[in-house]
Amino acid sequence: MQRHLWIHAVWIPCVTVLFAFQEGSLPGGVQSFSIWGPDTMPYFWIHTAWITGVTFLFGFQGFPVRSVDMQRATDNITIRQGDTAIIRCYVDDKVSKVAWLNRSNIIFAGQDKWSLDPRVDLVTKGQLEYSLRIQKVDVYDEGSYTCSIQTKQQPKTSQVYLIVQVPANIYKVSEDITVNEGSNVTLSCLATGRPDPMITWRLLNPSAEPLDGEEYLDIIGIMRNQAGRYECKASNDVATPDVKYVNVVVNYPPTIKKTQSSETPVGRMGTLQCEAVAIPTPEFEWYRDEKRLSNTQGINIQILGTTTVLMIANVTEEDYGNYTCVASNRLGTQSASLFLYRPGSGRDISGSACVSHSLWLLLASFACLFFKC
Ligand SMILES: *[C@@H]1O[C@H](CO)[C@@H](O)[C@H](O)[C@H]1NC(C)=O
Ligand SMILES: *[C@@H]1O[C@H](CO)[C@@H](O)[C@H](O)[C@H]1NC(C)=O
Ligand SMILES: *[C@@H]1O[C@H](CO)[C@@H](O)[C@H](O)[C@H]1NC(C)=O
Ligand SMILES: *[C@@H]1O[C@H](CO)[C@@H](O)[C@H](O)[C@H]1NC(C)=O
Ligand SMILES: *[C@@H]1O[C@H](CO)[C@@H](O)[C@H](O)[C@H]1NC(C)=O
Repeated sequence: MQRHLWIHAVWIPCVTVLFAFQEGSLPGGVQSFSIWGPDTMPYFWIHTAWITGVTFLFGFQGFPVRSVDMQRATDNITIRQGDTAIIRCYVDDKVSKVAWLNRSNIIFAGQDKWSLDPRVDLVTKGQLEYSLRIQKVDVYDEGSYTCSIQTKQQPKTSQVYLIVQVPANIYKVSEDITVNEGSNVTLSCLATGRPDPMITWRLLNPSAEPLDGEEYLDIIGIMRNQAGRYECKASNDVATPDVKYVNVVVNYPPTIKKTQSSETPVGRMGTLQCEAVAIPTPEFEWYRDEKRLSNTQGINIQILGTTTVLMIANVTEEDYGNYTCVASNRLGTQSASLFLYRPGSGRDISGSACVSHSLWLLLASFACLFFKC
């Protein structure tokens, strides 16, 4: 037992130094390489030192000559964070001494566990398998793992690079915002993941074309047609992409889009109509010359979203003339003139656009309810 400890005392620093050299010599982490391949000539002297040292030690200990049969693969192993990694190493029953190393640490020397990490254990099958199992793999487990197999003649190593992947996760995204038209807006979407996730933006309008932005989406002088639901997607092909949304409301002052004047004979119901677009939704007022109109005897003002209708139940001679529709919100005001014409005055009663039939029917039915016709 004492001799056993002494061997470790020499072997560990020796191996430590060698692996430190290897790591330092290969940029981007140690990758697959064969210690016997022609591509490893620069490391030849390291191996020479290694072999000499280890051979000396094991020779000293007096192990018999044994053959080695281990997995040749020196590939990357890709594993998702939280999963269990099994890094395989196969030996045959003639092997003298085996060890698992992680970077510059010894994890297992034979069956002796050196690592203090409770997630780490060995998977053995008789004497033929000497695999390393790491449960609940985390990002700091990423790196090279070496199964070191010793014989008197030829120590060999099997090296695997463990790549730990983490699904994309958006941890911070802009809050929903309301801005005025013309403002500069920056939306942010910050995500973690391994490999680094790619972040893409779309405005979920019918075309939903990808927008030019990554973590930050800059919108210079935002227009009303750029309002809506923005989708931020973080993807790294590890799992389904993470998606978050930002609602952007763009305020703008009213614009009167449609007006409808009326040509109504005395005794009939006259209807004037006015439609405005605005965010926030506009408020409407009606004026007869300078006088504000309200729901009084014979006059009814209806507001249906962005449209307002002025109904005069029983048109008289005095009602003919100029009316004004005023649409306003906190960003501005716009007004338009409409006319109630005497029939035969030959005026074009249409405003800037026509009223759709369905809307017209809806308004007519409202009027009917109001005037109990
Ligand atoms: C291992 O992964 C690295 C990137 O981490 C890559 O450059 C290399 O080609 C991979 N090697 C193999 C054998 O897949
Ligand atoms: C590998 O080594 C690092 C330190 O270099 C350590 O933090 C990590 O837990 C080790 N992994 C295993 C599986 O032992
Ligand atoms: C918006 O950004 C543009 C270009 O960066 C700049 O010229 C403009 O002054 C900015 N407008 C506001 C309101 O900050
Ligand atoms: C309309 O007004 C005139 C005059 O004020 C009145 O004679 C008539 O009865 C009214 N018609 C209706 C339907 O109220
Ligand atoms: C109608 O009234 C508005 C507001 O009083 C006025 O600005 C406009 O000139 C008038 N239009 C006509 C044709 O009289």
